[in-house]
Amino acid sequence: MRHHYWKNKTIVITGASSGIGKAVLKKLSEVDCRIITLSRNLPVVPKNSPAVIIPISCDIGSKTSIAKACKIIQKNFDKVDVLFNNAGITAHGRFDETSMDVFRKTFEVNFFGMIDLTQKLLPLLLKSRGTIIVTSSVQGLYGIPGRSAYCSTKAALHSVFESFRMEFSREGLRAILFCPSYTNTNLRTSGLTAKGSKLHDAQAKQLSEPEEVASKMIKAVESPNSRLVIMEKMGLFVKWMRVISPGLMERIIFSKLQKDIERRKYER
Ligand SMILES: NC(=O)c1ccc[n+]([C@@H]2O[C@H](COP(=O)([O-])OP(=O)(O)OC[C@H]3O[C@@H](n4cnc5c(N)ncnc54)[C@H](OP(=O)(O)O)[C@@H]3O)[C@@H](O)[C@H]2O)c1
Repeated sequence: MRHHYWKNKTIVITGASSGIGKAVLKKLSEVDCRIITLSRNLPVVPKNSPAVIIPISCDIGSKTSIAKACKIIQKNFDKVDVLFNNAGITAHGRFDETSMDVFRKTFEVNFFGMIDLTQKLLPLLLKSRGTIIVTSSVQGLYGIPGRSAYCSTKAALHSVFESFRMEFSREGLRAILFCPSYTNTNLRTSGLTAKGSKLHDAQAKQLSEPEEVASKMIKAVESPNSRLVIMEKMGLFVKWMRVISPGLMERIIFSKLQKDIERRKYER
């Protein structure tokens, strides 16, 4: 991490109470900067940090809660340099099993909340010619079986922030779409089942640690040309195979996930 890049910056991180966001907070708290965190549970603030850390309780799935949090930010800060649009939930279930409420709830948090927050913080981001980094997913590049609600929220984020990037490039704003590998976090126990109850799913295999993902996200912000950042081989495979041979790619993905889908069928 280039400490001098972050010195005196004002940074907003959503979802810093757990997982990837928590690791980003820990890393950036090594620097003399200002960090505002937004999540429902307040994060554990690292001790003896040179950073000024302001945790704000905020439900990204609620318009009122976002408006309240943004008022506090607007009152106390005259600019935002970097916005980590990171908070998110997953939703597991086959398309026909997934209720409309689950589709809506997943979009409220992963998509509409992020758009609303970005719009409200835009004047402060414009003042600093700031950067937005979105925690997306490889599943936003191509939908996978059993995750139609989650994948579609991430794919929608790609479209909106690509438009945003071109619209605001002359004002000096940047938007980075960051696709982590499978990471060892609470995502699979904080998300939703197809019917909307709390998910209790086992972790995926071959996990990265949140600290590694956080370091790469921080590096992506520091690098002036970051646009779409894909962390690992599976993501690069999807990025190219969707163009070269989508049929073969779908067969490979389906065969990898077939057991998972069939197990769920027996759960119904
Ligand atoms: N883990 C992976 O394998 C993986 C892979 C690709 C992408 N991602 C993405 O990485 C991001 C972070 O997830 P994670 O893996 O670190 O999972 P996590 O450990 O479950 O953390 C999720 C964070 O999002 C916050 N959040 C969830 N719903 C919220 C709401 N309604 N309002 C405010 N904050 C909310 C949570 O805070 P509170 O509960 O305190 O509100 C928590 O801090 C997500 O966008 C996820 O889609 C994860």
